[in-house]
Amino acid sequence: MSYVDKMFGLGGKTAVVSGGAGVIGTVMSEALLRAGAKVMIWSRSQESVDGALDKMKEVPGSDGRVAGMRVDAGSEDEVEQALQETVSSFTAPDILINGVGGNIGKYRLIEQDMELFEKVLHMNLVAGLMIPTKVFGAYWIENQIKGSIINLTSMASYNPLSGVWAYDAAKSATLNLTMASANEFAEYGIRVNAIAPGFFLGKQNRALLVDQETGEYTERGRAVIAHTPYGRFGEVGELAGATVFLASDKAAGFITGVSIPVDGGYLVHNI
Ligand SMILES: NC(=O)c1ccc[n+]([C@@H]2O[C@H](COP(=O)([O-])OP(=O)(O)OC[C@H]3O[C@@H](n4cnc5c(N)ncnc54)[C@H](O)[C@@H]3O)[C@@H](O)[C@H]2O)c1
Repeated sequence: MSYVDKMFGLGGKTAVVSGGAGVIGTVMSEALLRAGAKVMIWSRSQESVDGALDKMKEVPGSDGRVAGMRVDAGSEDEVEQALQETVSSFTAPDILINGVGGNIGKYRLIEQDMELFEKVLHMNLVAGLMIPTKVFGAYWIENQIKGSIINLTSMASYNPLSGVWAYDAAKSATLNLTMASANEFAEYGIRVNAIAPGFFLGKQNRALLVDQETGEYTERGRAVIAHTPYGRFGEVGELAGATVFLASDKAAGFITGVSIPVDGGYLVHNI
């Protein structure tokens, strides 16, 4: 086995990727699979699970190492049941990717619909972090598994993005809870880290960044690019390296509570 394989290979590991059929979840699932892990994709609809599994079949040697399940990550009962089924029908997971999240719309604060606010907060913070972290944390502690969690933070975790109140609130909390849960879980050998993607075109942010009729960037899309020293949106494949790195106990075994920006320099932009 080469030095690189020993350091970054994930053979013998099993990951659950919650939100694994999303744009970023799919890339993270593929990266883990290519690095040798077994991967269980969780997504909200059977159709999206099937679509993601079709893509994973293209990965050489993925036979028997990838499966999927329909789960609402916002339901504690469903997540508990899905974890039990994953353990009994696949393998006990030791990696959790919290890939559920996204944004809906952009509003002035005084025009914010509060039902929508709670929906976005729930999707990103409750489904996107709290419930899976609680359920996996309890399972790993009980079974003495030194697991690893990767959350999805955002540029909004560091500086607010305009008009996306619930998303800002949820993502700043995601950074905070990444640190807090890393601290609480450290005594069990469970690591908690995050990846903070800059701007990548996902299902839910696409409408904000690209005009659906013309395909041109919106004013906000152009503003993002102007604020990104690399002068472009990210290519989702550029998240693969950070995923494998953080998931590897050999490479990142003493790293916990950090959020790695993969952002083309967005956070260091100045004038
Ligand atoms: N795309 C970006 O530029 C970007 C930037 C920073 C952070 N992020 C974060 O990365 C994560 C993934 O984003 P994405 O761009 O891939 O979004 P996406 O919309 O493509 O994927 C999110 C997936 O989560 C699923 N989902 C939503 N609620 C769910 C629930 N309750 N249970 C199960 N599945 C559910 C959706 O169906 C979707 O497949 C999100 O947390 C997002 O905030 C994205």
